[in-house]
Amino acid sequence: MPVMEISPSSCHVFLLLATLAVGVVSGLTIQSDDARIHYHGRWDDSPGTWWAGSGFKLHVKNATTMKIQLGPTTTTPFAAVGVSVDYEPFFTVNASAGWNDIPLPAAPTFKRSDKSVIRVNVEGWQNNRINLQTIVFNRGATLHPYKPSKLSFQFIGDSLSAGQYLPLGVDQAWPFLLGEQFKAEHTINAQPGATLTDIPSYGNVHGVSFQFFKTEDTGYVWTADHNYTTPWDFRRDRPSPTHVVIHIGANDVSQGVTPDQFVQEYLGFLKRLRTIYRTQPIFVFTPWGWPSADGNVWYYYDGKYEEIVRKRIALGDSRIFLVNTTGWVTFDDVFADNQHPNVPGHAKIANLFSEWLENWGLRPERQWATPA
Ligand SMILES: *[C@@H]1O[C@H](CO)[C@@H](O)[C@H](O)[C@H]1NC(C)=O
Ligand SMILES: *[C@@H]1O[C@H](CO)[C@@H](O)[C@H](O)[C@H]1NC(C)=O
Ligand SMILES: *[C@@H]1O[C@H](CO)[C@@H](O)[C@H](O)[C@H]1NC(C)=O
Ligand SMILES: *[C@@H]1O[C@H](CO)[C@@H](O)[C@H](O)[C@H]1NC(C)=O
Repeated sequence: MPVMEISPSSCHVFLLLATLAVGVVSGLTIQSDDARIHYHGRWDDSPGTWWAGSGFKLHVKNATTMKIQLGPTTTTPFAAVGVSVDYEPFFTVNASAGWNDIPLPAAPTFKRSDKSVIRVNVEGWQNNRINLQTIVFNRGATLHPYKPSKLSFQFIGDSLSAGQYLPLGVDQAWPFLLGEQFKAEHTINAQPGATLTDIPSYGNVHGVSFQFFKTEDTGYVWTADHNYTTPWDFRRDRPSPTHVVIHIGANDVSQGVTPDQFVQEYLGFLKRLRTIYRTQPIFVFTPWGWPSADGNVWYYYDGKYEEIVRKRIALGDSRIFLVNTTGWVTFDDVFADNQHPNVPGHAKIANLFSEWLENWGLRPERQWATPA
């Protein structure tokens, strides 16, 4: 066979054939480096997601069809992705490397000629990597900048905040629901099984006091193509969080971290957080505990969260607040076999914290900054 010479015109033929083969390039094509994509959460340079809840938001007009092309580092066989159009409830798409259809609901919820907000995020605390390459809408669709909410929550925690065991993962967890209630941006760095203390715990090679400052969640260690961490550049959190919420300690107590060690760890973590979040209010949750069938609730580190907050205030930190969650969660609110909040339990916690915040003085936004 003669070696085929690639002339400019045969190049065009190849491109045309490639275009016909994927059948989608005729529409509005958006590359992953387009500044109009509003990324949130932790993305590496590929760009690929880490940590439950990371994703992107788009403000688009006249969209009827949507496809996303994902690259090779996407979780196999798929990553569960939550999708919401025009602030309607999230639904799941199992997205894989290659082209994925994102079903857009029909009118009237989704008014074709109007601008719409499409939100996409990974739901899982594991198997949560999407490697975004291209987004394609129908011909006639136009992309517009997404304006983020003035309110932006940063949540830090473990399985009790990550949505472990929930059908829609983090999208049904109390931090996510709270963010939605306040019409706020929200980022959730929550690692199931992890201690605050930087020690190995239930499959995590590091504690949250280490991992929070990294792009990757602790799943990196099980990941052959990206078996390392990189520092997270907090300037990439745009907008910068306006409120920081921490609920942690359950795994520290299981791993035998003593109450006094825990206080020291937590104070060290807060000191480091204050180098990033200098003036933002920080909310420290007490544990809501582990409820059992007999009606008892097992609380841990009694009095220690109060001590942490007291000590910070003594150091001159006036923007730190204890959220007393004692009594918030009963056996009805948890899965019987693992005592983690169930779907109604997470909604209840979100409502109680929402009430707490309103009493504290924070009002939800009246409408989303980018209305649908
Ligand atoms: C996603 O995959 C899971 C596991 O195979 C399956 O149970 C679920 O129904 C799938 N969801 C959708 C929306 O395809
Ligand atoms: C919407 O897109 C269709 C093609 O899909 C086009 O015919 C129509 O003019 C567009 N409408 C607006 C308002 O841009
Ligand atoms: C990642 O690196 C760690 C430590 O070097 C090693 O123990 C682990 O097996 C590696 N994991 C993968 C999936 O390559
Ligand atoms: C937390 O709330 C419980 C139940 O209302 C109460 O008994 C306890 O004293 C409170 N703790 C603090 C530190 O306010």
